[in-house]
Amino acid sequence: MINQTYDANNIFIPVPHKIMDIITETEIDKTYRLNLNVAGLPSYGQFYEVSLPKIGEAPISVSDFEKDWIDLTIRKIGTLTNCIHSLKIGDVLYLRGPYGNFFPVDSFAGKHLVIAAGGCGLAPVRSVINYFYRNLEKLAKFELLMGFKTINDLLFKYDIDRWEKKFKSIITLDHGCDLWADRPVGLITDYVGQVDFSDKENICVIIVGPPVMIKFTADKFVAAGIKKENIIVSMERRMSCGVGKCGHCKIDSTYICCDGPVFTYERAERFID
Ligand SMILES: Cc1cc2nc3c(=O)[nH]c(=O)nc-3n(C[C@H](O)[C@H](O)[C@H](O)COP(=O)(O)OP(=O)(O)OC[C@H]3O[C@@H](n4cnc5c(N)ncnc54)[C@H](O)[C@@H]3O)c2cc1C
Ligand code: FES
Repeated sequence: MINQTYDANNIFIPVPHKIMDIITETEIDKTYRLNLNVAGLPSYGQFYEVSLPKIGEAPISVSDFEKDWIDLTIRKIGTLTNCIHSLKIGDVLYLRGPYGNFFPVDSFAGKHLVIAAGGCGLAPVRSVINYFYRNLEKLAKFELLMGFKTINDLLFKYDIDRWEKKFKSIITLDHGCDLWADRPVGLITDYVGQVDFSDKENICVIIVGPPVMIKFTADKFVAAGIKKENIIVSMERRMSCGVGKCGHCKIDSTYICCDGPVFTYERAERFID
């Protein structure tokens, strides 16, 4: 039974959270829906430090949330995430957070929002997409560009089916296949030109994905006339404490964990190797 409660005075104590549901997204990605019993809701794009006792701890973005649950979409890549993938519904994950800054959804009101997401970069921005799915009238226009390596790497297929019906969504695969006939193939950068740039001053762009994808996609938007301060990116860096104490994530005087992970491209450009 889970009986540990959140201690607002000690941000380093992980709190157990019960797994309510598990969705297998791909061979290496699973979405875990957890019963939320930490103080306060996360905001769009924030992360938790997720751990298992005696195994390890890692930062994981909130891939969606409601008032009493959060989704974490976790890629099986190393020590901790391998163990998490063997958990079942009813098991427990330990969380501290939420940490970091977040996507300023309110500031997009009346804007033409474009989101470009590559691979598992879709996870931290999924809650933003679902927010505007429910509140599309708040935007002047919404366009979505998503890129995955192959058809087997598609995440959130059940969401994508809904999104495609409600707003312009371009989904491209690096490598096409018979099941993807007549659909976009190639890199996301090949499809930036299909964005409606008729009202450039009103466009805000969010880009999430691997650093190389962020860099080349942002450069395409800049070349199309979008100012770097109107491009927002989310950065991933090796972290430890997640709260600005250990210095693991520090670049120059910037702590990615607490000054970010969300930055304008104007500021983040120099962090991208
Ligand atoms: C803000 C933020 C949000 C994130 N959100 C998500 C998310 O939503 N979903 C998700 O799946 N992941 C997310 N990550 C990435 C996740 O935290 C890492 O993949 C984490 O390392 C996984 O922990 P692990 O113990 O399973 O893997 P590790 O054992 O840490 O291994 C991860 C990978 O890094 C390599 N590695 C291990 N140690 C080192 C080292 N010292 N130097 C170089 N390479 C090394 C390993 O070989 C392996 O390829 C996020 C990271 C950040 C910073
Ligand atoms: S992870 Fe410790 S300072 Fe950022």
